Amino acid sequence: MPASRLRPDALSVDTDIRTYPIRFVHLADVSAHLNDLGLHGPRVVVITDENVAAHYRTPLVHAFEAAGWTPHVVVVPPGESSKSLDRLSTLYDTLLPLGLERSTPVCTLGGGVVGDLGGFAAATLLRGVPLVHLPTSLLAQVDSSIGGKTGINHTVGKNLIGSFYQPHAVLVDPETLLTLPAREWVNGMAEAVKHGFIADPELIDYTERHLVDILGHHDLEATVPAVRAAMHIKAQVVADDEREAGKRAWLNFGHTFAHAIEHVAGYGTVAHGEAVALGMRAALYLSHRRAPAALDHDRLDALLAQLPTPDVSGLAFEALWDAMRHDKKTKDGTIRFVLLHAVGDPFVADDCTRASVQRAWDFVQQSTA
Ligand SMILES: NC(=O)c1ccc[n+]([C@@H]2O[C@H](COP(=O)([O-])OP(=O)(O)OC[C@H]3O[C@@H](n4cnc5c(N)ncnc54)[C@H](O)[C@@H]3O)[C@@H](O)[C@H]2O)c1
Ligand SMILES: [Zn+2]
Repeated sequence: MPASRLRPDALSVDTDIRTYPIRFVHLADVSAHLNDLGLHGPRVVVITDENVAAHYRTPLVHAFEAAGWTPHVVVVPPGESSKSLDRLSTLYDTLLPLGLERSTPVCTLGGGVVGDLGGFAAATLLRGVPLVHLPTSLLAQVDSSIGGKTGINHTVGKNLIGSFYQPHAVLVDPETLLTLPAREWVNGMAEAVKHGFIADPELIDYTERHLVDILGHHDLEATVPAVRAAMHIKAQVVADDEREAGKRAWLNFGHTFAHAIEHVAGYGTVAHGEAVALGMRAALYLSHRRAPAALDHDRLDALLAQLPTPDVSGLAFEALWDAMRHDKKTKDGTIRFVLLHAVGDPFVADDCTRASVQRAWDFVQQSTA
């Protein structure tokens, strides 16, 4: 019998440039893993944010020093505002005078913000130094640390400046999740469940059985198999997309509505993962309307309803529709939704009528009221 995808023996990301491993490790062992990956000290740069530094800076620095490394830690303020040109510039100002070499590894220790900012710094310092992600948020573990997207925001829009830059490895210490705020667990699980919907019915079944342990108790034994499965899916989608154009679009399941919800509610009011949870409910509703026989709507919607979301009763459909029409991913006014033929069988639909989309939003609003 093939190994369950929930517990694959080894995880790796296979790109045309390089295949790199995803390893589950203890933070204390990171330096040994760097050596094993052919990365050597004594110097190593660690980019992190204040929240993460408060918990993990000291143990990581001690572990590096005990192994004979000289870590340089750069701490940025937490939050999306650190993905800025100003912050990047400060990073260069701090790091370049250290006289880094092309071989000096840069580790990002934190969530997606630190990964995107630090990844872009690694991609551009000396035209590229080795990058290792140490993702500490659930979202970074299941999503942003894999795929090589790095970058910062501009006042014109999010993630508009950046590059594809694959890390040497992704080293995950699941125990870091124990200090993650509850709302960030929801953000991460929304993307993990999304990965299940687009590629893995087994992960959906698993999440149904374990979501209470994961979100309610932050039980790592229950969480880690879901993280592994979700990472595996993201790794496969981004690897396949290099050859089979378009698969990466499936990662936008739930995101057409999500981006509109974030935009209309005001960024930060509804967190991204919460918006994705609501957007997936709408997308599921649209999918079920098209193929009622292939999807057990009530069961799947009940799973999504377990992801806590804020009150969205004030978000008028007209405003959301307008935002969807003006989204940068909307071409020629045609709004695209990733829908499901079945769990694990997504497709892109560009023919959803306004009325059908409105019914989907009415459903979401009524069932969250
Ligand atoms: N590169 C990609 O492919 C990709 C994919 C998805 C999202 N993103 C980006 O990722 C960012 C969102 O990532 P995120 O949700 O991880 O946000 P984040 O990095 O802001 O982390 C969320 C919060 O949790 C805190 N935190 C992280 N780990 C912690 C821990 N172990 N203990 C205590 N606190 C911890 C952070 O300080 C922050 O306050 C966005 O900027 C988004 O654009 C990138
Ligand atoms: Zn997302």
